[in-house]
Amino acid sequence: MAPEGFEFKLISLNNLPVYNQDFDDNHEVPEAYTVFSKEMSAVDGVIFITPEYNRSVPGVLKNAIDVGSRPYGKSIWNAKPAAIFSNSPGNLSAFGANHHLHQSLVFLNMPTMQQPEVYLPKVHELFDESGALKDGSTKEFLQKAVDAYITWLKKNAL
Ligand SMILES: Cc1cc2nc3c(=O)[nH]c(=O)nc-3n(C[C@H](O)[C@H](O)[C@H](O)COP(=O)(O)O)c2cc1C
Repeated sequence: MAPEGFEFKLISLNNLPVYNQDFDDNHEVPEAYTVFSKEMSAVDGVIFITPEYNRSVPGVLKNAIDVGSRPYGKSIWNAKPAAIFSNSPGNLSAFGANHHLHQSLVFLNMPTMQQPEVYLPKVHELFDESGALKDGSTKEFLQKAVDAYITWLKKNAL
């Protein structure tokens, strides 16, 4: 879905130990933090695609945000243009996670696309057996959202 001149990269949140400030204080930062922060620093912007756990962001995503935000004053998130696409197997589309995430991104100074809001209900029905996104109105909407994000990114480029 990326227009010419842009590409998307999936950045894994796997294997990030739970953030602990002692790592910074003792200069014993886990290798996984360094790999993640390097990868994230190298991209021009971030689309957070998240489900919802107990009406908020899954801990694994919050942990990744915390990891990238430290050491203090060296946040990898600062000024990176962002968007939030939330999804759920039910109808509510992770509204709670979406808006809790906005709250963190305000603090992290990430200019975040306001419109279109992207809430994806019944997400398990959107993909075919090979894992590809099915044609239809959601795919068309997502293309519009991605195009809007690219415009947002260009306006807010670092
Ligand atoms: C601990 C837990 C809490 C959940 N809480 C919510 C919730 O608040 N809202 C919701 O829509 N789905 C909730 N779900 C269902 C998730 O949306 C669903 O499991 C989804 O597939 C999670 O994505 P993941 O498989 O990438 O972790 C919850 C699932 C788990 C395991």
